[in-house]
Amino acid sequence: MTTRAIIAGCGGYLPERVVTNADLGRECGIETSDSWIVERTGIRQRHIAAVGETASSMGAAAAHQAMERAGIGGGEIDLVIVATATPDSAFPSTAARIQAAIGATRGAAFDIAAACTGFVYALGVADAMIRAGSARCALVIGTETYSRIVDWTDRGTCVLFGDGAGAVVLTAGEGRGDSGDRGILSTHLHADGRHADILHIEGGAGSTGGPGLLRMAGKEVFRHAVAKLAAVVDEALAANGLGHADVRWLIPHQANLRIIEAMGKKLGLPAERVVVTVDRHANTSAASIPLALADAVGRGLITKGDLIVFEAIGGGLTWGAALARF
Ligand code: UT7
Repeated sequence: MTTRAIIAGCGGYLPERVVTNADLGRECGIETSDSWIVERTGIRQRHIAAVGETASSMGAAAAHQAMERAGIGGGEIDLVIVATATPDSAFPSTAARIQAAIGATRGAAFDIAAACTGFVYALGVADAMIRAGSARCALVIGTETYSRIVDWTDRGTCVLFGDGAGAVVLTAGEGRGDSGDRGILSTHLHADGRHADILHIEGGAGSTGGPGLLRMAGKEVFRHAVAKLAAVVDEALAANGLGHADVRWLIPHQANLRIIEAMGKKLGLPAERVVVTVDRHANTSAASIPLALADAVGRGLITKGDLIVFEAIGGGLTWGAALARF
C-alpha cells in the first residue's frame, strides 16, 4: 500500500482591515478606479496587515485553525514548511518561528521561496518527505504581507495584492478511502529562471541592493500564465491517468479572475466548481491557494473523495500543479 500525504485539516487567517478599490483612491491617493481594477482583475477589496502583524503571526493563526480542524496537537507535528516571499526576517525562518508558536519541537522547519507558486512547491516537498518516510505529520503554510513590499506609487502593481495566510495539515496515511485513493496524488513543479526579470523583488533582504519592492511586467506574466498553467494541469492529470471530466474542483492561485476563468473553461468546469477568492482577498501570493481551500472547505463545498486541482505561477518564473483527492 502506498503511503500518501492526506489533507487532514486546513485553516486561514485574514487581517481585520479591509481596503476596497474605492478606498485606494479616496484614502491612499492612488489614481485608479474600481471599474479599472474589477474589469482587469476581478479584485474588489484586499485585507491589509496591522502594525505588528507579520508572516509568522498570521501563519501561526492559520496553522492553529488547521490543526484544530485536523484534531492535531503541536507535539504531533514533525515538519513545518512555510512558503513566503515576505518572511519576518531572512533568518530564523518564518517556519521556525511558527514551529515555536504552535508548540512543535520535532523535525525540520524551513521556508521555501517560489513566490506565488510557493504553496504548490511546499506541498510538493512535504508530500515527497511524507512518501519517503522522513515526516508523518506536516504543516504546510503560505503566508504573506505583500502590503509591505509593493511600491505604493506604482498603481500598476499596488492595487493587485493583499495580505493573509493559509495552512494545511498533512498526515501520512494509506491513501485508501471509500472513494478510492485519497491524499496528494502528485505534484508537478517547474521553473525557468530566464524570465526572472518579469516578476521580481528589487533588492531588499537580498544581496543585490535596491529598495526591496515588487516589480512586474503584467502583460508578460499574463501571457506565460495562460500557456504554462494549462500545460502543467494537463501534465498532472495525464500522470495519473485522469482527464478533465474527473476534476471536481479547481483551486487556482488567485491573481486574476480572467486567468482563473480561462483555466476553468479549459477544464470544462462550470463556474461554481472553480473556487474564487480573488474578489475578496486580492492576490495574496503563496497564501492564496490555502486560503481559497480553507474558504471552500469552511463553506462546506468540498466533500471527501472530491478530486481537486491546485495550480499557480509566480516569480522565478516558477509554476506548478498538484492533484489531491480530499
Ligand atoms: O501572482 C503572480 C502572477 N501574476 C499575474 O498573473 C498577473 C498577470 N497580469 C495581469 O493580471 C495584468 O497584466 C494586469 C492586471 C497586471 C494589468 O492589466 P493590463 O491589461 O496588462 O494593463 P496594463 O498594465 O497594460 O495597463 C493598461 C493601462 C495603462 O495605461 P495606458 O498606458 O494604456 O494609457 C496603465 O497606465 O492601464 C493603466 N493602469 C491603470 N489605470 C487605472 C495601470 N494600472 C492602473 C490602475 N488604475 N491601477
